[in-house]
Amino acid sequence: MVEFICHLMCYWTSLIILLVLCLFLRPPGSHASVSYKPNIVLILADDLGIGDVGCYGNDTLRTPNIDRLAKEGVKLTQHIAAAPLCSPSRAAFLTGRYPVRSGMDAIDDSRVILWTGASGGLPPNETTFARILQQQGYMTGLIGKWHQGVNCESRNDHCHHPLNHGFDYFYGMPFTLVNECQITKRPEKNGVFRAKYWFYTQIIAIAVLTLGIAKLAGLVSVPWKIITCFAWFGLLFFASWFSSYGFTRYWDCIIMRNHEIIEQPMMVERTTSIILREVVSFIERNKHGPFLLFVSFLHVHTPLITTEMFRGKSRYGLYGDNVEEMDWMVGRVLDVIDKEGLKNTTLMYFASDHGGFLETHEGKAHLGGWNGIYKGGKAMGGWEGGIRVPGILRWPGVLPADAVIEEPTSLMDIYPTVAHLAGGRLPQDRVIDGRNLMPLLQGSAQHSEHEFMFHYCGVYLHAVRWHQKDSGALWKAHYITPVFQPEGAGACYNRRFCPCIGEGVTHHDPPLLFDLSRDPSEVKPLTPGTEPLFDTVIRRIESALQEHRRTLTPVPHQLSGHNNMWKPWLQPCCGIFPFCWCDKESGNPHTAL
Ligand SMILES: *[C@@H]1O[C@H](CO)[C@@H](O)[C@H](O)[C@H]1NC(C)=O
Ligand SMILES: *[C@@H]1O[C@H](CO)[C@@H](O)[C@H](O)[C@H]1NC(C)=O
Ligand SMILES: *[C@@H]1O[C@H](CO)[C@@H](O)[C@H](O)[C@H]1NC(C)=O
Repeated sequence: MVEFICHLMCYWTSLIILLVLCLFLRPPGSHASVSYKPNIVLILADDLGIGDVGCYGNDTLRTPNIDRLAKEGVKLTQHIAAAPLCSPSRAAFLTGRYPVRSGMDAIDDSRVILWTGASGGLPPNETTFARILQQQGYMTGLIGKWHQGVNCESRNDHCHHPLNHGFDYFYGMPFTLVNECQITKRPEKNGVFRAKYWFYTQIIAIAVLTLGIAKLAGLVSVPWKIITCFAWFGLLFFASWFSSYGFTRYWDCIIMRNHEIIEQPMMVERTTSIILREVVSFIERNKHGPFLLFVSFLHVHTPLITTEMFRGKSRYGLYGDNVEEMDWMVGRVLDVIDKEGLKNTTLMYFASDHGGFLETHEGKAHLGGWNGIYKGGKAMGGWEGGIRVPGILRWPGVLPADAVIEEPTSLMDIYPTVAHLAGGRLPQDRVIDGRNLMPLLQGSAQHSEHEFMFHYCGVYLHAVRWHQKDSGALWKAHYITPVFQPEGAGACYNRRFCPCIGEGVTHHDPPLLFDLSRDPSEVKPLTPGTEPLFDTVIRRIESALQEHRRTLTPVPHQLSGHNNMWKPWLQPCCGIFPFCWCDKESGNPHTAL
């Protein structure tokens, strides 16, 4: 008996000694947990293609600062956006959920928030990572583009505003850059929508008049409620048509600081330096941390606002100049972090919201990005070029340097990753699609937790990816693909961008199947003849898809026709509507950099 107890004690003692040894002798770089809350800087470029970046293989466009970030950190080669356009992709990034779950994806061809004065936007009951970190004692800031809506019911309710979504500080555009922001550029929004708005205004006016007269004459029994409803839509279309005449610059090109409008319209020639000034000052103000800063660049979206210093300097026209300027801005952000001694206590992240824009051009000049070997681009939900983006994380001493991870990861993964680092809890009452990246980044997990990924175009599922861990195969089945014009062009040059549904797409049954590990450019679809596993793979993907669909619940569509119309009473306005103008930035230093 004594002997047994002695053995037991001996056993426990050696176990404890072993454990203690393990704790102390852990090899560097495999820290299981970090004892402090790191600062977090998330940098998102707008419309940047994976093929535009030096460390992703571009040897003629200069991006030394992004490359340096990758050198000092981890480069993800299969980093996937949840949607191929700004508003839905960013909604997914902020919430860690596919945009269909928050209602932030399109049911028709209005696929992003179209007006600052629209009523759609990120619903107030969604919980962003900023909210979680704010509750964990972080100072949270957003500098740059938002594009997740502003108001719901009245001009200043700011229900969708960043400050209502967990950010303590906001400086930037509540909307997105459009050509109208730069007076010298050909208007984009006006031209595209005006004809449509005018057409509907006329049709509805005729319908309302006819119905009204027929009703008064006792010829039809349509209730007045329906006629009034028609008239209401007619008025909204009329307002949108009217406001598309040169007003866009005043309505949408605005800069806010917190709840206040600072510039209406914005002065684009000073925006870049002001954004940098704001980034530097946010970091300096909060260097005693912990802070979360989301730097959401207006670069490299058209109209490609580029300062004198970078114009004409790249090999790729205005687009290339703009990319090089954006890279320089990344360098400035890195410099401040390093200069303030925050390098080792800050997790830095760089990515793009979706793939480069192939169709955008001015005359012969291409004004969009390049997606390298990947097929397709912006607005295409299924093809790799629309959704595979650069993704880099740096945290010296905690994450390995100069490492490359080829496993599938998602922009939605940032959500649980930063929540975990801040010691926060994920919301338990909803599905979170992102996965904590730390085990993968630190090398304690070999495989990403994403076995399946669902690639949406609007609310329509276009493709499913299956990373088969044991075999290493990377299957992708396409159910719907856009019809390229001209055929094989990899883009829809006959339109502004490829559609998700309707006449411009092809449905595939059985789906088009590729193995990206052998065919990353998705050139040769597999067939049951060429791929013995064809049927097995399709069946497995089908069942995963059904399982995924069971987790979806219907929610209000934030981008519906009604939500996405210009509503005069929601238009943010500096002054007395409709006389909206101010410049509260003049006189402030904005060339300090
Ligand atoms: C580098 O980027 C430019 C601009 O997008 C593109 O035209 C060029 O093809 C890219 N080069 C390589 C090698 O990918
Ligand atoms: C930061 O971390 C790196 C890598 O672990 C280390 O070499 C360096 O000395 C650290 N710097 C500071 C200021 O702690
Ligand atoms: C938010 O509210 C909408 C209804 O207004 C509901 O359908 C949705 O499920 C809610 N979302 C969450 C995450 O609670």
